[in-house]
Amino acid sequence: MQLSVGIVVILVSVSCVITIPVPDNADLARIVNGETVDITEIPYQAALRRRVLSGWAHNCGAVIITNRGLLTAAHCVETFVSQPSLLRVVVGTSSRLTGGKTYDVSVIYSHESFSATTLEHDIALLGTSKIMDFSQSVAPVSIASEHYVLPDGTGAVVSGFGTTSYEGSSSEVLMAARVSIVSQSVCARAYLRIATIGEGMVCAKGSNPPRDACQGDSGGPLVVRNVLVGIVSWGEGCANTNYPGVYTRVSEYNPWIKQKLELLRATG
Ligand code: ARG
Repeated sequence: MQLSVGIVVILVSVSCVITIPVPDNADLARIVNGETVDITEIPYQAALRRRVLSGWAHNCGAVIITNRGLLTAAHCVETFVSQPSLLRVVVGTSSRLTGGKTYDVSVIYSHESFSATTLEHDIALLGTSKIMDFSQSVAPVSIASEHYVLPDGTGAVVSGFGTTSYEGSSSEVLMAARVSIVSQSVCARAYLRIATIGEGMVCAKGSNPPRDACQGDSGGPLVVRNVLVGIVSWGEGCANTNYPGVYTRVSEYNPWIKQKLELLRATG
C-alpha cells in the first residue's frame, strides 16, 4: 500500500493519472468500449482545462449542477486551489478541444478531508466567474439526495473525453458507456490488496465487453435516470474485469455540496 500510495501521489501531480501502472490485459482495456454521444444527450458534461505553456490542455471532466457551479474530483484541482485562474471549464461541446463556451473558474472548493493517498472525499465544487447560459447543449443535472438509495445492479451512464484504453490516447469526441452499480462488499473484496473502498465511494462496471471510465474522465458524471450519483475518481487500470471503476458517492456529499453552493451564492 505505501509504495503504491507513493506512486499515486507522483502520478496525480504529473497529470490526472491515479491508477497504478500494472500491466493490463490490453484487449480488455478499452470511456473504454463506450459509444460516441452528442452533448445534447449529456448536456451536463463539461471539460476542465488547465493552463499550460502553449495554451490550455484537457485536465479532467466536470459536471454542471447550477448556472455557476460544477462538480469535479478533488484530485483534479488539488494543485490549483489557490490559483483558480489556471483553470477554465468548457461546456456545450461534444469535442474535447474545440467548440463550446468557455468560462473562467473564479473559485475552487476542494473537500477539506480529501486525501491524495486514500482518495477519500474526492470531490470539489468549482464556481465560474460568469453565469453560464443554458441551452439544449448546456444544462444542469440534479444531484442525488442525502438518502438516495442505489441498489446493486442499477444501470448508470458514465461519460467523458478520456482515454479509450488504459494508457491509450484521449478521445477527441464525447463518449459514454453503460455500467452497473457494484455492491460495496464485492468492490471492497476486489480492491482488498490495493485500497479501501470507503463510504464515500461507489463502484460500477460494465461487462461484455468490459466498459469503464479511464484517464481524463475523472471529475466527470455517473448518472442514473437524470440524477448524478457518482463522480469519476479512480480505478486499477481501466475496464479490467477484476477491478470496477470507483466513483465519489454523491449522495454522501449532498450536504457538503449544498453548503458550498450556498457559499458560492453568498460570496461569489
Ligand atoms: N483517475 C482517472 C482520471 O484522473 C480516472 C480513472 C478512472 N478509472 C477507472 N478505471 N474507472 O481521469
